[in-house]
Amino acid sequence: MNTIDLTGKVALVTGGSRGLGKAIAMAMAEKGAEVVICGRKQDNLDQAVEDLRQKGINITAFMANIGNSDEVTALFKAIEDRFDRLDILVNNVGMNILTPSVIATDEGLWDKIITTNLKGTFLASAGGARLMKKTGQGKIINISSIAARKAAMGMGIYCVAKAGVEMLTRVLAVELAQDHINVNGVAPSVVKTKFSQPFWSNESLLKEITNTIPMARIAETDDVVGTVLFLASGMSDFVTGEIITVDGGSMA
Ligand SMILES: NC(=O)c1ccc[n+]([C@@H]2O[C@H](COP(=O)([O-])OP(=O)(O)OC[C@H]3O[C@@H](n4cnc5c(N)ncnc54)[C@H](OP(=O)(O)O)[C@@H]3O)[C@@H](O)[C@H]2O)c1
Repeated sequence: MNTIDLTGKVALVTGGSRGLGKAIAMAMAEKGAEVVICGRKQDNLDQAVEDLRQKGINITAFMANIGNSDEVTALFKAIEDRFDRLDILVNNVGMNILTPSVIATDEGLWDKIITTNLKGTFLASAGGARLMKKTGQGKIINISSIAARKAAMGMGIYCVAKAGVEMLTRVLAVELAQDHINVNGVAPSVVKTKFSQPFWSNESLLKEITNTIPMARIAETDDVVGTVLFLASGMSDFVTGEIITVDGGSMA
């Protein structure tokens, strides 16, 4: 009960070629899982596989754009052919393009942000749940954001998409409970990755942000990984439909 052991589990971490996804992939492999990552760019995937190989960790990478249903179907087919099961799905892909105002945004940008963050989570959850039902169990973990619950300037469409991800988490938790598939989410505040570089690379903006966080710092990827491991493990078997906030107290 008091250790996290993912031996024998097959895990897919979407968007695992850098940032939070890469840290989650590494931690899950270290806990014994067979880990698959996906991303849009082969060179980013190759780099991640090589970085982890140099640390003695072997993972598998498949190229797939999570917002494209044909590519997602091919991704789950490849996982099925290779492993014939999926135990853990981390819907980690997320992106934003800074926009001054939602209503002044063109339709194309709305579609891109909603498709990648929300539709991608739906497509991958459908593909993942299909494989999980074959073994009668599974864990789906959606990476949300405190932006799902707190409007942030420049991030309006992303906020809407992540709010959708949180409701999708609760809806799928209810729908998949009978199949012994837990569906939960993790909502971090700013984590130091490429995604958030515009925030933490600007010294005065970083100071402004840390002033809103009682723990007085932004998160490193490892600050989020532990919660994801907990939700992937047997320690959280009776937890479903829950979003765990990992934010150094900022929402408190
Ligand atoms: N960093 C933060 O401050 C923060 C805070 C709260 C929540 N989050 C959430 O945490 C998650 C991870 O973010 P991060 O900061 O690690 O981002 P990141 O550094 O930008 O990494 C994103 C990863 O996703 C892949 N990716 C992007 N679009 C994709 C698509 N359409 N299909 C497949 N893969 C795609 C990228 O690879 P390619 O570019 O090669 O496709 C990369 O591996 C996201 O859901 C984000 O919303 C982040």
